[in-house]
Amino acid sequence: MTGQSEAKSMFLAVEGVDGSGKSGVIAHLADYLASAGLPVITTREPGGTPSGEKLRALLLSGSDDAWHPMSELLLMTAARVEHVQKIILPALRTGQIIISDRFVGSTIAYQGAGRGLSEKFIRHLHAEAVGDLWPDLTIVLDIDVTVGLSRSRRRLTTEILDEGRFESIDTTFHEKIRQSFLAQAAQAPDRHVVIDASGTPEDVRKSVIAAVSAFLPHRNQP
Ligand code: TYD
Repeated sequence: MTGQSEAKSMFLAVEGVDGSGKSGVIAHLADYLASAGLPVITTREPGGTPSGEKLRALLLSGSDDAWHPMSELLLMTAARVEHVQKIILPALRTGQIIISDRFVGSTIAYQGAGRGLSEKFIRHLHAEAVGDLWPDLTIVLDIDVTVGLSRSRRRLTTEILDEGRFESIDTTFHEKIRQSFLAQAAQAPDRHVVIDASGTPEDVRKSVIAAVSAFLPHRNQP
């Protein structure tokens, strides 16, 4: 099942390594779609619901070993069940465009490739627990992990955010995440677009708008 099965609705996810610039891109894309008169909502994972945000605080703070990888997977999935049932499916049923900052692609990348859990199990859990919902289009912002990590660590310090648990892990871990996103895109090219996120914010935003505009006519007639 994909989000586009609902009339006029569309489910977009934005993925990438930490510090790939997702938030700026999402805000810009949402403004662009809204100014074209399309009903758009933005959300994020882990989070997006009150209970999901509580899980986010638990998952993103503390030391790297605060959670066993399996607990981490189950908590990410629990947050996603809340998110899908309470936010994403209702939005799709009412014909909205939903843009999620991360979705199950992040679980395949972080808990699968990064933590070493079985991708087959993660996909099975997604099918059984979440209902096998996949984004119509996933935008992968691709960037060198050292560039992303330094941006992300800088932001955590400037904004005094206690969300640096994954940023505390070494570059080798984050390189596996990057490669997983690229592999997921190669495996399902009709549902992914990879954008080079190393350019200026303006260039990246333009590329994202071009990719989504090219995709819109197939899925959504404004
Ligand atoms: P996010 O706000 O996306 O970080 P950034 O803006 O730095 O990219 O933080 C979410 C973190 O949670 C990120 O490090 C990836 C991680 N994560 C997982 O490990 N698994 C998941 O399923 C999801 C949704 C996120």
